[in-house]
Amino acid sequence: MARPHIEPFVELNEDYRLFNFAGYKGAHYKVLSLDTETGASTIKVRFDGGYTRKPGLSYSDIEIFVLTGEMKVGSQTCVEGHYFFIPAGVALGAIDVPQGCEVIVMYNDSEPNFEESDKDHPLALKHGFVSVNSYEDRPWAGGSIVSPSVATGCMLKLLRYDPITEAMTFLYCMTPQFMQDNISYHDCAEESYHIWGESWMMQFGDLPTGGYFWRPPYVNHGSFRSKLGCIALGRTDSKLHNYFHFNPWTNPDENQSRAAAALYRQRPQLFRWVSAGDHNHPHGPMGQIIKPKPPTDFEMRGYESTPQVTALANQNYSFHEMDHLHAKDYVHNVHHAHKPEDDHEHSHDHDHPHGQGDHKHD
Ligand SMILES: [Fe+2]
Repeated sequence: MARPHIEPFVELNEDYRLFNFAGYKGAHYKVLSLDTETGASTIKVRFDGGYTRKPGLSYSDIEIFVLTGEMKVGSQTCVEGHYFFIPAGVALGAIDVPQGCEVIVMYNDSEPNFEESDKDHPLALKHGFVSVNSYEDRPWAGGSIVSPSVATGCMLKLLRYDPITEAMTFLYCMTPQFMQDNISYHDCAEESYHIWGESWMMQFGDLPTGGYFWRPPYVNHGSFRSKLGCIALGRTDSKLHNYFHFNPWTNPDENQSRAAAALYRQRPQLFRWVSAGDHNHPHGPMGQIIKPKPPTDFEMRGYESTPQVTALANQNYSFHEMDHLHAKDYVHNVHHAHKPEDDHEHSHDHDHPHGQGDHKHD
């Protein structure tokens, strides 16, 4: 069970609670979202003046964003806008909060946890560590770094990018009077915390300062407006692809089917492979796919009977055959594919690895 959809949630309306976990004794927290199976969570934490913590590590990836005040981490003073990505097992320096601060803390894999240590775990992926002042040390990029793009006036600062999952953490802002008239959804979960300002979405209304959402994949959101602008911390758990449309009545299942239909049309071989089901082993009983049905697409009703898609659906080979389509067979077949008009003397006296039909498919 992944985290449930929570949107909109305005944390400024909630009270802090005393944090009694190792590494956080004396701090206060609010839960913004929680995976009740793994404990993965996003929390807002208040460290009052005088809070200190020894160096230590966690068995979860952690992200920290400083909202207000300042905290010393090792020899570094981190002020508003400072962002950390701390891979599991990487030891963070001692924390010292002289006058109090508030931070967003994300435990991506497990409940909040802390082991005192001044050394990284030997298996820690240290190169993934990020420490940057996002306000001062990263440029704004156009929202079009993700394509298809959001409307102009929504900009991004990329803070962290995972080259394997394509998960991203970023700041985004909307200019005053930003508007986007379409509806979007994604294959990834999407998370946002409004640092300042207000935006509006057709489905969920106003998201003010302190507003938060955890939005599972394929949930419609948009159109969008922002009257006076906003700045927010955003995160995805995998690749962010904008599927746009104008139908406010679709549900996540229909949106997912439409996304699969796009894969069916645009990357048909990959679709066949992923739709093989079970273990996906090409020689297993599920390896033979006979005409996988095109998924339905609410934007393109009846597309499965168009000539282009019919042609795709009639590519009725199995993985079994693909597996045996060796290069030598290809050469053989091309070599013998004479048309009558090409006919000429041909003695077949070249060195030939096998005669036609003498190889077996088993
Ligand atoms: Fe989105």
